[in-house]
Amino acid sequence: MALQPSRTAYSVQTPRLLAIANQKGGVGKTTTAINMATALCAIGKKVLLVDLDPQGNASTGLGVRRSLIRNSVYDVLFEAVDITEAAVKTKVPGLSVVPSSVHLSGAEIELVTAHNREFRLRAALRKPLPYDYVIIDCPPSLNLLTLNALVAAQSIIVPLQCEFYALEGLSHLSKTVERVRKTFNPELDIHGVVLTMYDSRNNLSRMVEEDVRGHFGDKVYKTVIPRNVRLSEAPSYGLPAIVYDMRCAGAQAYIKLAKEIIRRERAYNKDVKAA
Ligand SMILES: Nc1ncnc2c1ncn2[C@@H]1O[C@H](COP(=O)(O)OP(=O)(O)O)[C@@H](O)[C@H]1O
Ligand SMILES: [Mg+2]
Repeated sequence: MALQPSRTAYSVQTPRLLAIANQKGGVGKTTTAINMATALCAIGKKVLLVDLDPQGNASTGLGVRRSLIRNSVYDVLFEAVDITEAAVKTKVPGLSVVPSSVHLSGAEIELVTAHNREFRLRAALRKPLPYDYVIIDCPPSLNLLTLNALVAAQSIIVPLQCEFYALEGLSHLSKTVERVRKTFNPELDIHGVVLTMYDSRNNLSRMVEEDVRGHFGDKVYKTVIPRNVRLSEAPSYGLPAIVYDMRCAGAQAYIKLAKEIIRRERAYNKDVKAA
């Protein structure tokens, strides 16, 4: 059942909410969140990136200096600060970020006893906002912060590094999504799985790809993100790779991925219109 029957294609009131999630660290969540958000802005969308990881890599990767942060996602979760007040503009036209803060590392414990602990982020985001898309960059765990993202989001995008235990991690995450669907958020779905740090010369990359596509079929995006040093350099300049070096293989792959995601979004919009 659609929770937002009034939503129509490209005249979004309540934004489309996508979480970038994988309980493993270092698999490309933040890189995907930053570059996906930038690619969406490049086609004219207004995007808000919510940095839900206490490490704050999405914030620093977009050039937000910690010393200049007034409100963070912590204040949104615990101090009833409106999400639009916590949003900071970035150098990318159309892209704002709600920064993380060091306080967020204690949030996990504070949430345990908090009222409506699973729904705090949802309450902040499921309302008319001046954005077409909200992208939530999750921490590398399945804790209460990530649960907040899964309860708030309509869909998740899963970056998956091509390594030996990739499929097991993905099964674990799928089960979590299933549980969240049965309890807090019936409409949650996996938008897609994106293979990251792919090396076509490496047998393991190819084997993992075959396995993951065998199990998850069309849920795996056709576009794969190659291992590319420019993607890892860009954050130190506070810029998305798509801005830092648009021509590099990594940026090009993220642009292609964004196009693929938009195509799936068009199908989603049609469904919402029909509902
Ligand atoms: N496709 C890639 N090629 C090379 N380095 C990458 C790629 N994707 C991410 N990285 C680098 O790998 C590290 C982990 O990526 P990150 O996006 O921060 O993962 P996560 O958010 O899942 O922890 C970062 O240093 C990042 O710059
Ligand atoms: Mg990260």
